[in-house]
Amino acid sequence: ISQIQINQAGHLAIGGADALKLVKKYQTPLVVYDVSAIRDQIHHFQKVFEDNHVAYAVSYASKAFACIAMFQLINQENAHIDVVSGGELYTAIKAGFPMDHVSFHGNNKSREELEMAVDYQIGVIILDNFHEIELLKQILTAKDAHINVMLRVTPGVSAHTHEYDQTGQTDSKFGFDLKSGQARQALDEVLADSRMTMLGIHAHIGSQIFEVKGFEMAATKLIETLGQWRDETGYVAKMVNVGGGFGIRYTETDDPIAPEMFVDAIVKAIKKRVGELNLPMPAVWIEPGRSIAGPAGYNLYTVGSRKDVPGIRPYVTVDGGMGDNIRPALYQAKYDAVLASDPKAPAEETVRIAGKYCESGDILIQKQALPKTKPGDVLAMLATGAYGYAMASNYNRNPRPAVVFVENGHDQLAIRRETYDDLIKLDQPLQ
Ligand code: LLP
Repeated sequence: ISQIQINQAGHLAIGGADALKLVKKYQTPLVVYDVSAIRDQIHHFQKVFEDNHVAYAVSYASKAFACIAMFQLINQENAHIDVVSGGELYTAIKAGFPMDHVSFHGNNKSREELEMAVDYQIGVIILDNFHEIELLKQILTAKDAHINVMLRVTPGVSAHTHEYDQTGQTDSKFGFDLKSGQARQALDEVLADSRMTMLGIHAHIGSQIFEVKGFEMAATKLIETLGQWRDETGYVAKMVNVGGGFGIRYTETDDPIAPEMFVDAIVKAIKKRVGELNLPMPAVWIEPGRSIAGPAGYNLYTVGSRKDVPGIRPYVTVDGGMGDNIRPALYQAKYDAVLASDPKAPAEETVRIAGKYCESGDILIQKQALPKTKPGDVLAMLATGAYGYAMASNYNRNPRPAVVFVENGHDQLAIRRETYDDLIKLDQPLQ
């Protein structure tokens, strides 16, 4: 709440535009991105690398929020993207995104997806398992083609975060195990195939992580692995990709360090171990999703019905919910909301903010202090830009919201609101 902008009318402003005017123009529920917040965060990451004199790539994890306009914006800032599906890759192609700046992740990429990646000569395929190496070998041979690859490994670090968000521990579905020698075997297979160029090693330890230590440990482990590989095989890596996962502030009580400070610690840990092992300094790649898209996003809702459960609490219901933001229901994720017409108005009651979906679990915020609201008031949920719209569904056959980009007071539609016709466009009537 400390970071929100308030304009002269006393209303919430996003990217210099009045939130209530945006609502008038685009209706609710509405997702709004402050474009300069996205640019600024990318710049903060880039500056850390520049200050440390390290070659790098900031690769936006597009699963956090992808659409053509977002990819265009990311490209304007010279950032890369990582994709995890043919659909994300297709969106990047349609956005005119430079294919050599695309990394492809996933623990079960299909033959079709790998073929697409090879046909478009994307920057790097991040190999996750032996089946995939075999598939890719077949495809490269059939197409008489080459491609860059990295190996994803599980460094054996379990991050302090929600269980579903952990990926770096040994017991994970992602990547090659380091301890048992799987990763080394994968390296041998890749080096033996002249159609694959081995760029380096990758690990991602989890998401919404607040502690620097896990990142430092994982990064150090990656460098030690590279040292071992050099000693055993002579292979010297050009890149180390440390993934994403830098935690962000969702509510007033969260107190993370700035996302780029995690990266600064990682880079320093890498430099130190590289020096000790006498390795050439690799380029450092990061894959932040949440920290780039999250804080820049706002979900705007209109207040509708209210129920006062006697002696317990009021429920204030808005015109969206788990269909446009599943995170509270799925991860017990916490958010703050403000009254868009007067974000600083003193609180008069503590309410539950409920969604309109037919499920008791569709509660957006369990406890929110607010001034008294009435039907028609606009509530803004803060920091909703990552894994909100990206995980949206048509549950209850509700159309997904529109997404608007705002910068310097200028607004433009990035994704139009779904219509009822959109909802039935795939339906096939009985014959
Ligand atoms: N790189 C890889 C390989 C990943 O798996 C992920 C996230 C990222 C980068 C980006 O992580 P970030 O910087 O956004 O934390 N739906 C969940 C988050 C799932 C994250 C999956 N992988 C949520 O809403 O919390």
